Amino acid sequence: MDIGPRDQNAVFPAGFAWGVATSSHQVEGGNSKNQWATWEKRGRIKSKDSVGLACDWWRNAEQDFDLAQSLGVNALRLSVEWSRIEPEEGRWSEEALSRYRQMLRALRDRGMRPFVTLHHFTNPQWLEEKGAFANAESIWLFRRFTQRVVGALGDLCSDWATFNEPNVYVSLGYFLGEFPPGNKGRLLRAAQVTRNLCLAHAAAYRTIHSLQADANVGWAQHYVVFKPRRPESALDRWICGFIHRRFNDNFAESIRCGRAPFPYGNFGQTLDGVKGTCDFVGINYYSRLRVGLAPRSPGTLFFQISVPPHKPQGDSCIEVPYGEAYPEGLRKAVEHFAALQKPVYILENGVPDRQDRIRPWVIESNVHQMRTLLAEGVDLRGYFHWTLTDNFEWNEGWHLRFGLFELDPETQLRTPRPSSKIYARLIRECMASSVAGEPGPPRAAGMSRDGASA
Ligand code: BGC
Repeated sequence: MDIGPRDQNAVFPAGFAWGVATSSHQVEGGNSKNQWATWEKRGRIKSKDSVGLACDWWRNAEQDFDLAQSLGVNALRLSVEWSRIEPEEGRWSEEALSRYRQMLRALRDRGMRPFVTLHHFTNPQWLEEKGAFANAESIWLFRRFTQRVVGALGDLCSDWATFNEPNVYVSLGYFLGEFPPGNKGRLLRAAQVTRNLCLAHAAAYRTIHSLQADANVGWAQHYVVFKPRRPESALDRWICGFIHRRFNDNFAESIRCGRAPFPYGNFGQTLDGVKGTCDFVGINYYSRLRVGLAPRSPGTLFFQISVPPHKPQGDSCIEVPYGEAYPEGLRKAVEHFAALQKPVYILENGVPDRQDRIRPWVIESNVHQMRTLLAEGVDLRGYFHWTLTDNFEWNEGWHLRFGLFELDPETQLRTPRPSSKIYARLIRECMASSVAGEPGPPRAAGMSRDGASA
C-alpha cells in the first residue's frame, strides 16, 4: 500500500469533504421514464412499495439541503436522472437541466460542494429497450449525455462520478436477476456489459476533461469484505476468493491495467483507452458477508451468503441479511484499491437501521478508521454518509431505512434520528481540529483540485 510517514497527530485536512450521498431515483419522485419505474410496474419491488414522491426532491430538494446544512456538511453527492434529461432518444429537456442547475446553485449557496454522479443504476426506458449497456451503442450515447450534462452544469460542479457501482449493476442485473433487466447467470452478457461500462466510463472521463481541464473525475466502486463461511473448508475458501476477485475487482482492475480480467474479457482482452481514467477512487463500503459453497442452490449460482447472528448488523432485507456492520472493512477497502495510487473518497457508507440501534456506533467507528488511515498517510479526501433522509431502497422499497433523518413518505415529515446529532458533532470536531481551520467557499470549475473545500 502506498502509505506516507506515520503521523499519529494527523488530522482531517482542511479541504476534507464531509457529506451525505443520495441518488436521483431514490429521492426525486415522479421518475416514470426509467427502467426502475417499469420494474416497479411489473411488480418486481419485493416490498411492493411504490417510489411515489420519494423524498419529493424534484419539487423541493431545498428542504433537505437545509437539513444537510444544519448538520454542518460541506458537500453533498447526488445523481442526475438521464431519463429526465433525455426522455426520448435525442430529445433534451432544458427544463430538467435548469432544475439541476437550480439544485447545484442551492447547494453552493449553502456552502456545500456538489458531487454529481452521472449514472446511478437507472437507464431511460428507451435505452433499456435497446439493450442498455449490453449494446455497444450505449458507449457513445453515454458520452453524448455526459457532454450535455457537463456543458450545462460544469460551471457549478467539477467533481464527477461517471458510474455508481458498475459491479453491483452487473452482478444484480445479469448474474442474480435481482435488478432490472432481471437476467440470471448470463455470464457472457455480464462480461459484455462490464466491458461497455468501462469503455463508456473512459469516454465520459475524456469528455469531461475536454470541457473542464481540472475536473475531478472518478467512479463509485462498491466493496464487500467476503469471508469464508467455514474457514476450515477449502471449497468455501476457494469460492470466497473467487467472488471477492470477481466482484471487488470488476471494473477497478480494468481501470488500473487497461484490460478486462477473465471472465470479463478473453483472458486479458485489452480495453482501449481505459487505463488510468480516474482522478480519484470512490469507495462505497457497507458490510462483511460470509460466503459458502451451496451445491444444491443453482438459483444463487451455487453459493450462499450469510451473516452469523451474533455479529453486529442493522435491519435485514426482506429475503436475506443486509450484511454485518464491520467498520474495520473500510481499511480493507482503502488498502485494496491502493494499487490505483489515487486519492480516495468514501462516496457511501451507512447501515439500514430504522431504530438507530447501531448507526451511532457505525458512524463513530468509521470516522475512527478514517483518522487512523489519515495518520498513516493515506490520501483520503472525503466521506459521504448514506444517507440524509430515508429514501427508496430499490427492491426493498421503504423497508430498509438508511437515513440520518426518518422520513414518513406519506406525510413527508422528517424526524431526526440521534445519529444525525452524532454525525454533526463529529464533523464539527474534525473540522475544528483540521490543519488550516475553516473550509473555504464552494470550488468553481477552474479552481485547483487540491483546494477541494466547499
Ligand atoms: C447504492 C445505493 C443504496 C445503498 C444502500 C449502494 O449500494 O449505491 O443506491 O441505496 O447501497 O443499500
